[in-house]
Amino acid sequence: MNADIKDSSLAAKGKLRIEWANQNMPVLNLIRERFLKEKPLHGVTIAACLHVTTETASLMRTLKDGGADVALCASNPLSTQDDVAASLVHDYDIPTFAICGEDNDTYYKHINSALDLQPNITMDDGADLVSTLHSKRTELIPNVWAGTEETTTGVIRLKSMANDKVLKFPVVAVNDAETKHFFDNRYGTGQSTIDGIVRATNRLLAGTNFVVAGYGWCGRGLASRAHGMGANVIVTEIDPLKGLEAVMDGFRVLPMSEAAAIGDFFCTVTGNKHVIRKEHFEIMKDGAIVCNSGHFNVEIDLDALEKIAVGKREIREFVMEYKLTGNRRVNVLADGRLVNLAAAEGHPSSVMDMSFANQALAAEWVAKNHKNLEKKVYVVPTDIDKNISKLKLQSMKVKLDVLTPEQERYLASWQEGT
Ligand code: ADE
Repeated sequence: MNADIKDSSLAAKGKLRIEWANQNMPVLNLIRERFLKEKPLHGVTIAACLHVTTETASLMRTLKDGGADVALCASNPLSTQDDVAASLVHDYDIPTFAICGEDNDTYYKHINSALDLQPNITMDDGADLVSTLHSKRTELIPNVWAGTEETTTGVIRLKSMANDKVLKFPVVAVNDAETKHFFDNRYGTGQSTIDGIVRATNRLLAGTNFVVAGYGWCGRGLASRAHGMGANVIVTEIDPLKGLEAVMDGFRVLPMSEAAAIGDFFCTVTGNKHVIRKEHFEIMKDGAIVCNSGHFNVEIDLDALEKIAVGKREIREFVMEYKLTGNRRVNVLADGRLVNLAAAEGHPSSVMDMSFANQALAAEWVAKNHKNLEKKVYVVPTDIDKNISKLKLQSMKVKLDVLTPEQERYLASWQEGT
């Protein structure tokens, strides 16, 4: 089979880890059982550019069991779990192109290998498949029915393409489903980012000043989890509403120019570039720990840090210690790439269950409806989104109340007041 992975001998370990994660993905498993019977993706080619993790393995199996012909490449050079990639190839016959630590050229070579499948559907996390198709592989575009997009950053890129009228096929913004971003972005990023920081540093968070840059869904989750670990959380924001929300959630809100001098930990989750830059490094305390959990490695201006540093060494795995003037050290985790996927294993399976249920059902929806779609960014249909929340609650054995007929009438009426 056509594939490029690090080491086939890792497959047995990968298979066990895939099975472990899959035990906590009940909604995706229900979809997979139905897909096995109904084969709604029969004859559909799907190229996926996702973090190659145990959870992604469950999604790829689901698509394949639905009848699709699939190929997978990495959506980040540092997030691939090499044992999972090996098992996908050897145990599940899924062509996979991903090696942890691959350089930029190999990253794009792998994207091109996945695109060689001539996909009808692209499945992106960050929009690199769509952007490569629109710039370097335009000959494949007539074959593409639609794409799906997993993350906030990717959706922003795609909406800019649609606004500029250059988007050449429809895309479903899976990120914007409520059962995706309310949970994955908030609780997933919250937990996995703390996990990455703790695995990389083995430092205590309690009693430290923890600076969260950005108070979107990811920032909210991270701030709440850092607070739960006993840190004093400081939020930086540019949006008045989000800044206000952070204040009322009980956090201190400061501009980065002030937070930089007092933070012990810094984590960027803004989706924007150079959120931490030269002027901030220059006033950081000795030993400050700086990392990123936003999609791209642009949030920390590492070039500026390299320029002002008088030396650097990898002091432990995932920790680069930069020596600065005045006997100060600033530690950057995972080269400023997604710390939750590089230094830990990404979001836990129970939250990816809902994100990837959205992906699988969005692919089925595209396969059914692609002839009627326009070249724009779509949301996941509300009935799919709502059904995922129902199934997730059922799997957790959580029961809700139901409206009485009297309550239904009351909600639909306007006559009754005080
Ligand atoms: N994004 C964040 N966490 C992830 C995971 N565990 N698998 C795939 N994509 C992810």
